Amino acid sequence: MTDRASLRLGGLFDPAGFDDVDGTGDPARYAELLDVAAATDNVRELKNRVTMHLAARPGERILDVGCGTGDDALRWADLVGPDGVVIGVDRSNELLQVARDRLGGTNLPAKFLHGDATDLPFPDAFFNAVSASRVLIHTPDPAQALAEFARVTRTDGRVVVFDVDADALLFDAPDHGLTQTLVGLLGDSFRSGRVGRRLPALFAAAGLSVRSVEPCGVLLPHELWRTLLTAPLSHAAEKADIPADDIARWWHSLEAAARRGEFFAVWYGLIVSGTKPADPSQSAGAALRAGPATQPRKENT
Ligand SMILES: C[S@@+](CC[C@H](N)C(=O)[O-])C[C@H]1O[C@@H](n2cnc3c(N)ncnc32)[C@H](O)[C@@H]1O
Repeated sequence: MTDRASLRLGGLFDPAGFDDVDGTGDPARYAELLDVAAATDNVRELKNRVTMHLAARPGERILDVGCGTGDDALRWADLVGPDGVVIGVDRSNELLQVARDRLGGTNLPAKFLHGDATDLPFPDAFFNAVSASRVLIHTPDPAQALAEFARVTRTDGRVVVFDVDADALLFDAPDHGLTQTLVGLLGDSFRSGRVGRRLPALFAAAGLSVRSVEPCGVLLPHELWRTLLTAPLSHAAEKADIPADDIARWWHSLEAAARRGEFFAVWYGLIVSGTKPADPSQSAGAALRAGPATQPRKENT
C-alpha cells in the first residue's frame, strides 16, 4: 500500500455527496456519519443552540429542511407535543426511511416527506417556524431555498439556518500554503461551499428580518476528519497538481498529531435566526437589499 493509498482506509467518502445521498451508492455511510457526528459533545451543543433559536412551542407546526435521519425533527416533535407537528423534508429517500424507522414505535407528532429545499411542497404561510442545518452548503441555489423558507413561514414566524463556510476551516497543520490549498479544494467541491458568510444577506434578500447572528465552531474528532477528507485528498493531486507525496505527508502529520493527542481542527459557521415581517419592505434587511453589494448571487463553485 502506498502512502497515498493509505489515505483511503475505510473507502472513499465524499462529503460533497450530501447533495445527492441516494446517488452515491452508499447512503448508509452518510447516515452513519450523521450519527457519529451527532454523538459528539460539540455537535450536540450546536444542535442545542439551533433548538434554542427555533424556540418550538406546544401546538406549533415546524419544518426541518434537509432533515437527514430525523435527529432534530424527532427532538422538536417532543417540544410541539400532540397538538403540533414537525415535518422533515429531505432529497434523500434513503435517509428519510431511516428517519421513518426511528419515528416508528414512538407517539411523536412527526412526518417525513420527500422534497427539495428550493421547491418546498407546502402552501404559503404554512409553518410557525422553519429550520435548515448544514443543508445550504449542499444546495446549488441557496437564495431560492431562503425564498422558499420565507414563503412557507407565517407572518412573525421564525427561520433558523445553520451552516459552515468552507474557507473558515482551520487545521493546526505544519504547511500553511498546502493547508490553504487543500481547504480551498474542499470548499470548491461543495455546491455552495462559501454560503456561511452569505447567510445574513440571503435572509435579507428573502425579506426576512435578521434577529441574531451567532458565530459557532464545529469541532470534529480526528477519526471523523479521516473519513471526511478521504475523497477530497485523493482528488487533490489531479485537481491542483499537488504531488501525492506532499498530500500524504500533510495527512500523516495530522495523524501523528492525533497520536500525541494534539490534533486540532475547527470549522466555523453561523447560526442565523430571523422572523418574517408583516411587510417585507420594513424588514431589517430591506436596507441591505437596496445595496448592490448584497444582491443574491450564485456561487462559481
Ligand atoms: C449534512 S446533512 C444534515 C442533516 C440534518 N439537517 C442535521 O443537521 O443533522 C445534509 C442533509 O441535507 C439533505 N439535502 C441536501 N440537499 C438538499 C436539498 N436541495 N433539499 C433537501 N434536502 C437536501 C441531504 O440529503 C442530507 O440529509
